[in-house]
Amino acid sequence: MTTDKPTPESIRGMLAAVRYPGFPRDIVSLGMVAEISIEGDRAVVALRLPGGRTDVPPVIESEIAAAIASSGLVARVVVAPPAAEPPASPRTGPTPDQPVSLPGVRTVLAVSSAKGGVGKSTVATNLACAFAATGLRAGLLDADVHGPSLPIMMGTDARPLAAGGNRFHPVERHGVRCISMGFFLDETSPVIWRGPMVAGLLRQFLADCEWGDLDVLVIDLPPGTGDAQLTLAQQVRLAGAVVVTTPQEVALRDVMRGVAMFRQVQVPILGVIENMAGFDCPSCGRHDDVFGRGGGEAVARAAGAPLLASLPVDPEVRRSGDEGVPIALGEGPVAEGYRRLARTLAESLRIAAAGSRTADA
Ligand SMILES: Nc1ncnc2c1ncn2[C@@H]1O[C@H](COP(=O)(O)OP(=O)(O)O)[C@@H](O)[C@H]1O
Ligand SMILES: [Mg+2]
Repeated sequence: MTTDKPTPESIRGMLAAVRYPGFPRDIVSLGMVAEISIEGDRAVVALRLPGGRTDVPPVIESEIAAAIASSGLVARVVVAPPAAEPPASPRTGPTPDQPVSLPGVRTVLAVSSAKGGVGKSTVATNLACAFAATGLRAGLLDADVHGPSLPIMMGTDARPLAAGGNRFHPVERHGVRCISMGFFLDETSPVIWRGPMVAGLLRQFLADCEWGDLDVLVIDLPPGTGDAQLTLAQQVRLAGAVVVTTPQEVALRDVMRGVAMFRQVQVPILGVIENMAGFDCPSCGRHDDVFGRGGGEAVARAAGAPLLASLPVDPEVRRSGDEGVPIALGEGPVAEGYRRLARTLAESLRIAAAGSRTADA
């Protein structure tokens, strides 16, 4: 009954070996361990799970049991009621409200849309490749933790290499440093991150990744105006956002909500990119406005930002995305369009690639 008696603190230390499924960080540093109490021969561990979740993932339960086995206690894992938790004792983990400092990253650019399926990931991926093609050091962060598309679109499912502690290296592909939730998931991992978990994951992607020196970090945001957008705006200094829309009216209303959200958090909208703007039939030469027309201009007007590009529907765009070789890496009008877009944005972000002349001191 003396030195070896387990305490809530010693149990907490043991729990630091338990990782949340599919993610390289432990449940303690993620702030998920709300309370530990010892009742007889049991350690009752109350977990604060992602918003709305009321069941403990079985794999966590068994890992907790194994992690504290040496204490001689039996684990009982319960879910802490999120609202009943007092806001006290910030004794573990980093405070999620502090902005992340990214010393080597010159600019962070968000690619956003209020609605899914408008080609946001396609644009983000191609834009990152186009930045790299114009000589900039580019990164791509896939912030869509529910439906990561970077691994497919960039054509890699490599695992990020560990960089010591909880840190990891991005995966370099097509000259772009990439991170995506998809790199950390296996086929069976649940993709049910919500609320605070999304914030935690995004924060780790930003802060725990060895981005190194980058001229621009492109962030592919999930659709909507939810946690990811707000977290990002709070946790990192965004140089600006580009808004992707289709030309159709239905999308227009959604996109305007996104524009309003960025205004609220004082992130400048650098411009609007209209995607899926018409189809030029290669056989008959006719132009068809498959997804309506005018949406890009309307959003740009309403956002008080320029319409930066109007990119056509092109089956090659989809094919190259599915094959993991973004179209911007090749030749042709769409690739040129993306490189032009990259140069325009680089100018407005003042990160244009160093040319032959460098102004020394
Ligand atoms: N300009 C385009 N022409 C043809 N297909 C496109 C174009 N832009 C995107 N797509 C295809 O549309 C689908 C949805 O695009 P995606 O970038 O995943 O959208 P989001 O990220 O907005 O959900 C993908 O299959 C993609 O290849
Ligand atoms: Mg997407």
